[in-house]
Amino acid sequence: MPSVVIVGAQWGDEGKGKVTDVLAQDADLVVRYQGGNNAGHTIVVGSSTHKFHLIPSGMLYRDKVCVLGNGVVIDPDELIAELDALTAEGVDVSRLKISDQAHLILPTHNFLDQRSEDRRGASRIGTTGRGIGPAYRDKINRCGLRMADPGHRDSLGEKIQMHLDEHGPTLDGCPWNRARLQEYLLRTHARLAPHLTNASRLINAALDEHKRVLFEGAQGTLLDIDHGTYPFVTSSSPTAGGACIGAGIGPTRIDTVVGVSKAYATRVGAGPFPTEDSGELGERLRAAGHEYGTTTGRPRRCGFLDLVALRYAVGVNGMTHLALTKMDVLDELDTIGVATAYRVDGVLMTEYPTDTDAVIHAEPVFETLKGWTQSTREVRSFSQLPPAAQDYISFVERNLKINVALMSVGADRNATFVKNAIWES
Ligand code: IMP
Ligand code: MG
Repeated sequence: MPSVVIVGAQWGDEGKGKVTDVLAQDADLVVRYQGGNNAGHTIVVGSSTHKFHLIPSGMLYRDKVCVLGNGVVIDPDELIAELDALTAEGVDVSRLKISDQAHLILPTHNFLDQRSEDRRGASRIGTTGRGIGPAYRDKINRCGLRMADPGHRDSLGEKIQMHLDEHGPTLDGCPWNRARLQEYLLRTHARLAPHLTNASRLINAALDEHKRVLFEGAQGTLLDIDHGTYPFVTSSSPTAGGACIGAGIGPTRIDTVVGVSKAYATRVGAGPFPTEDSGELGERLRAAGHEYGTTTGRPRRCGFLDLVALRYAVGVNGMTHLALTKMDVLDELDTIGVATAYRVDGVLMTEYPTDTDAVIHAEPVFETLKGWTQSTREVRSFSQLPPAAQDYISFVERNLKINVALMSVGADRNATFVKNAIWES
């Protein structure tokens, strides 16, 4: 089938970049549909490491068209910096197409992000500080600026003024006034204008021609504004439905949804995380998995796999396949826990509670599986995995009623391998 959506099945950082990178080989278009430069994808090819925040991972393949859909929020200076870095490596960046409906992250949004976190104090969300929430807030509040707007010199000043007026005294102390914003937007627009297009039309036309389109989600299901652990979430829809809204395609266009999960769980930023281990196990996973944020460098909170939350993610996304990453991080453990239920105020729950308060109070009920206690780093196919690792995967598959289609045992491109075909399914 010609369209595949990749979504994070946990709290982000599942290794979506690696999975996108593998599936992008056989794609014609790679599309991002939500989020902004709060995301961070690390892709290792041979001896070089590439970090992307905004540009789709598919950009490393020199023949793919890459798209930033209308649902993405764009910090123009950050985007230009990524384009410059790629250009310096000899990559042709004219293949990047940007929806002219995508909203701009303005420097005022970064300021407001910080202000809002300061105001919340102890109950702060732990945002990435990239202005994501304020940019989406302005979009919904109908006072945002879109990528096309700086192209209309005569009305730009008025639009900036409306944005400033809307925020009023909350912007006191912000060094960005109308004139400075206008100069900034005109300068960055001159550089980005050649990339702007009607992205929905571009993507639909590709699908009409039976081209293969890969939709690359950022963040994860439990950070979704609706389906995540609100209010400890991001301000967009990382779930599969977000691909329709954020790329301008209809639901009938999507046939395959690949959810990506680590073989364990991590979360960065504040908010409930039932299987979190703040002791020795968490430390071990963090060290073995190099669990530090790509975007902010913050240490990630770590714990065992949570099948209650994953089952929920399967449903919310209409997931057809699972990709299980970083299996090798569990290599040295004698036993491995997996949460199959929660206990909330003494009551056993096998279904994920959508009331965040219940998630905050949820105590995981673990089943213990045997570890394989040998290295899987050199494994390049499912059948080469030690029997206990195969059993671990089968346990996950049975519990989620979904097949693991792809897995990874390391950062390098060839350490990600396919168990069941995806494009052909
Ligand atoms: P924001 O997206 O910067 O507003 O941050 C909201 C929450 O989402 C915070 O807990 C962040 O740590 C988290 N978050 C945002 N982007 C990512 C990501 O790409 N990976 C993991 N967590 C993220
Ligand atoms: Mg990440």
